Amino acid sequence: MDLPYAEPYKIKVVEPIYRSSRDEREIWIKEARYNLFNLRSDRVFIDLLTDSGTGAMSHYQWSEMMLGDESYAGSLSFHKLKDTIEEILGMPYFLPTHQGRAAENVLFSALIKAGDMVPGNSHFDTTKGHIEFRRARAIDCTIDEACNTHEYHPFKGNIDLEKLEAVFQKYPKEKIPLCIITVTCNTSGGQPVSMQNIREVSALCKKYGIMCVFDAARFAENAYFIKTREKDYEDKTIREIVREMFSYVDGATMSSKKDAIVNIGGFIALRDKAIFDKASVFNIMYEGYLTYGGLAGRDLGALAQGLKEGTGFDYLEARIGQVAYLGKKLRDLGIPIQEPTGGHAVFVDAKKFLPNVPREEYQAQTLAIELYIESGVRGVEIGTLLADRNPLTRQNRYPKLELLRLAIPRRVYTNNHMDYIVAALGNIWQRREKITKGFKIVSEAPIMRHFTVELERV
Ligand code: F0G
Repeated sequence: MDLPYAEPYKIKVVEPIYRSSRDEREIWIKEARYNLFNLRSDRVFIDLLTDSGTGAMSHYQWSEMMLGDESYAGSLSFHKLKDTIEEILGMPYFLPTHQGRAAENVLFSALIKAGDMVPGNSHFDTTKGHIEFRRARAIDCTIDEACNTHEYHPFKGNIDLEKLEAVFQKYPKEKIPLCIITVTCNTSGGQPVSMQNIREVSALCKKYGIMCVFDAARFAENAYFIKTREKDYEDKTIREIVREMFSYVDGATMSSKKDAIVNIGGFIALRDKAIFDKASVFNIMYEGYLTYGGLAGRDLGALAQGLKEGTGFDYLEARIGQVAYLGKKLRDLGIPIQEPTGGHAVFVDAKKFLPNVPREEYQAQTLAIELYIESGVRGVEIGTLLADRNPLTRQNRYPKLELLRLAIPRRVYTNNHMDYIVAALGNIWQRREKITKGFKIVSEAPIMRHFTVELERV
């Protein structure tokens, strides 16, 4: 008999979670004004709100916490991290920041000015926010296949080279400070970018003299997909693939809360000393001195260790295998999801799941609330609430996709938890025809409304 798959780690510390009743959850979610961000975490059984900062650190990472050097300047933990970034990413310059959006804030302060254009593949919300805040524009150049959930494409995070070149031709070089490749592309479903696409985008950027940068939050998961889906890479190690990926770009912003498996942290990696010097000034102003950047020495050490573990094949196989396991079980029930499953989450297509709920009543949010009441599982809406209003007309912006994201924290849940999620969604799937009403907004903030919006049943 073939031996079945089993995770390459065992559990040393456990955190009890409370199995609430349906009656309790109905009261709690009403009290939370039907906004899952308002729930106290002990009222959530399985928390799939995000994979960011929610991973389980290894005992090696915890020992780094003890070894942390808290010197204000020249900390040994900083040097440990600097050496690791140079070794794994091949980038000679780096600045620590407290998380990914802080890295964006610092780097964009050095590069972006009002009126600029920043092309890329479906920029993440904070990335777009930091671009628009500077009165510049984020231009989405993702391939069209990304918007068709049932169509299989191995690299739905890819940039459409024609769309990108059209941007390069339309605007003068001075107005395009950088192009951002998000690996993997969160917004399109944790979808990877192929090495070929990275190489071609990089060449196009070089041709037009434009800087090319990774949003590298999930770079290791991207490398795993290159190894398992792209021709000529199956025999390369994850580390070799990562080195090649980074060889094509001029720098990166990183949210270490994802693929470096820490609870807080980020950084900027750069190849060019002049840009590093310019960004350093903003780092000192916004984050902290150059050798700690808003983090404790112990955080820097755990981050360095996390980068090593996060780029191990066995770890990635377990991690992405669990996401694929959940996706397959949902697919077997006929539940519509973004195909194929990406690196960090399963994205359920709420438009197809709840066709009887009008779009104006927030289909993905309705599904997220149903799932919470059914099971205590907390996912997150990636749909109309998140897309917010058009700043000029104040009308709702309806995105192409209306998704419920089930983000899986790293090394935290077992496949029994996955089975529980499948059963819960399966129950809702069976009675989906009867769900015909959604929610309406009672109050909302002028920007980033999804975090604090209050809703009531229609
Ligand atoms: N870039 C990407 C692709 C992200 O997914 C995130 C965060 C950031 C940048 C910002 O990093 O949170 O450390 O400031 N994504 C989280 C999520 C919040 O739930 O997807 P941060």
